[in-house]
Order: sequence, then C-alpha cells, then structure tokens
Amino acid sequence: LDNGLMRTPPMGWLAWERFRCNIDCDNDPKNCISQDLFRDMADRLVEDGWRELGYVYVNIDDCWSSMQRDAQGRLQPDPKRFPGGIAKLAQYVHDRGLKLGIYGDLGTHTCGGYPGTTLDKIETDARTFAEWGVDMLKLDGCYSNATTQELGYPLMSKALNATGRMIGYSCSWPAYQGGLPPTVNYSQLGEICNLWRNYGDIQDSWTSVLRIVDWFSDNQDILQPAAGPGRWNDPDMLIIGDYGLSMDQSQSQMALWAIMAAPLFMSNDLRTLSSSARFILQNKVAIAINQDPLGVQGRRLLKEKSGVEVFWRPLSEGASALVFFSRRTDMPFRYQTSLRKLNYTAGTYKPYDVFMEKPLGLLKDSTDFVVSINPSGVVMWFVPPAAQWQKQAER
Ligand code: DGJ
Repeated sequence: LDNGLMRTPPMGWLAWERFRCNIDCDNDPKNCISQDLFRDMADRLVEDGWRELGYVYVNIDDCWSSMQRDAQGRLQPDPKRFPGGIAKLAQYVHDRGLKLGIYGDLGTHTCGGYPGTTLDKIETDARTFAEWGVDMLKLDGCYSNATTQELGYPLMSKALNATGRMIGYSCSWPAYQGGLPPTVNYSQLGEICNLWRNYGDIQDSWTSVLRIVDWFSDNQDILQPAAGPGRWNDPDMLIIGDYGLSMDQSQSQMALWAIMAAPLFMSNDLRTLSSSARFILQNKVAIAINQDPLGVQGRRLLKEKSGVEVFWRPLSEGASALVFFSRRTDMPFRYQTSLRKLNYTAGTYKPYDVFMEKPLGLLKDSTDFVVSINPSGVVMWFVPPAAQWQKQAER
C-alpha cells in the first residue's frame, strides 16, 4: 500500500501468540490482556534497547474490547481491563517514541467472540481508531464470508486513508482464502494493504515454524514478487523467547524471517526474556538484512538431499545474505559449496558470519568452503563484495 508507511518490514511486539485471549485479570493480573500489559511492554521496548533497533510497534490483538459497542455504535475497550481507554494508552506509547497497533475483525465477531466490524461499521471503526491515535490496524477475518471480505478489505483501506491519520494496515484476507491465486489477488493486496497474513497461525513449536517455512518456500514463486516496500508477506510472529524453540531453532527463525523480508513482531514476554533470546532478537546484522531498503524478499535456492537448504536474499549496494539451514536431526553437518555454485557473479566477496558476529576472510566465487550447520540450526552470512567492504573499512 502506497501510503508512505512500512517501506521496510514493520517491527515491534504483538500480544497474540504469547498472551492469547487471557482476560482473567483477577487471578492472573500480570498476564491478562489489559492496559498494564501493553504499558509494561512499551517500557521494556524503550528501556531494554529494542526501540533503537527498530522494534517500535506495540500491538494489541484480539479480546481487548467490551462485548458491547457504546451508545453511538462505536467499539470500546473492556472498562475493567482498559480503564484509561485506548487514547490514553496510545498517548503513553507515543510519549515513549513508540506506535500503537490495534485489532479488528471483518465479520460479525472476532475469532475470540468480541464485536466484529461488519460492513456498515467500517467507517465508524476507522474513525474511532484514528481518533484514539492508533498507528496500525490488523484486520482479521473470522465470521466473515468471501463476499464480505472482497468488499470489506478494500473498504477499510479507503476508510483508514479518509481519516487523514497514517495507519498501517495488516490484512488477514489471504489467510482466509487459502493464500494462493486464483482466489488470492496479490497485486490487489499490494495496493490496499501494507502487510498480509498468508497462512495459518504460528504456535509455540518448532513444528509450526517448519510448516510455515515450508509453505512460504514451496510457494515462493507466487509470494516473493508480491512483496516490496510498503507491501509485505507476513509469515506471522516471532516466537523466540517463548517455550517451543531451542537456541539453534531461535536463530533459524530469526534468520529465515530476515531472509523472507518478514515483519518482525515478537510475541513473547519482554519482562522475563532470557538474555540468549534477547541476543538473537537484537542481532544488528540480522535486523539490517531484514530491513534492507531494496525490500526484495529472499528465496530458497536449494533443497539438498542431505537436509540442507540454502536461502538467499539480494540486498542494496550489491550485497546479499545467505542462510544455510539444516533440517537434520543428528549432528552438526559440514556442508561444502562455493559462491559460484550459489549463482554468485565472478569476483571476491567478504562474508560476515551474522550469529558468530565475526568477519570471515576474503572469498573468491570459485573457492569451495565448508560451513558446519547445527541440527535445526543455521549459518547466516552477510555477503558484501570485497571492494565495498574495503570502502566501508576506510570510512
Ligand atoms: C486469528 C489470527 O490469525 C491470529 O493471529 C489472532 O489474531 C487470532 N485470530 C485472534 O483471535
């Protein structure tokens, strides 16, 4: 969507995967969907260095609202869990240099059973969100049908634009259409949405991450050209720092999401995050690869019989990123290849190992090298041409 927003994939925090529809604030006050949870996360984003790295969105998901609209037909937050209201929360977030995202559903109800945005409510809800000072909307698709979606998703795009407030727009539409053409029209999506969920929900498990990676890679010929500045495929939240992933698997999710030019929305508890999860999520080069201004989504180049897969993403200034991913379950695998075998043009390169955080030696396209990839882990390289690395070093 050409609204000037999200020229690189949006980054921040989103409540759903980790906190779901926990509304039990009486018994679980720290973990329920409430203004306190979002304030806590806003505080952490600022104090723990996330904001400076680009993680600026604090996003509310389902189960924030009251079961009833107000007398004027507007959505209102649950009065017990958001006593200050959303405008106050937006102010809190803005005061800290962050942005607030909210959630709606184009249907009779949200997936969690809260009031939905039926077609007749689209303009009202867009205006309400704008008045509150909301910066992003995720529009889900439960309890809607194909016709409602076809009318509603473009209509909301117009309605948000008409508010005069810059509001990033995340559409779950393709995820409700099976994610593929001819049902899904990716050029239309690129015109009306800043990002879109193509596929099912991520869960807190490695199996779930693998399913998502497989689906996005198997369909990359369709998905990859759909992405670009202002319009992104969304393979769903980062679950790094939760319960389902080992450290190697966490690096794999970070690396693959960076290569896929995916939005980086963490869904974890920033208050109790381990330092190892934090190191992975705050890896500057992985983030820079994700945020590359060229905005070209990467691809899976190779699927080897050994269980190694190689991913590649072109970056600005002639650089690129490589991910060597092992799906093996035995031991570190020594994978031998050369840049020439990976379609690199003739020349000398200066790879940098992203998670080891160390530069490697000069590497000719024709020279064979070996990377040792841990089971369900990655080796990730940033690969500038050597000449350019020289220039950077001289600066
Ligand atoms: C389905 C979406 O895909 C999830 O990300 C989440 O928003 C839930 N609905 C909320 O009910």
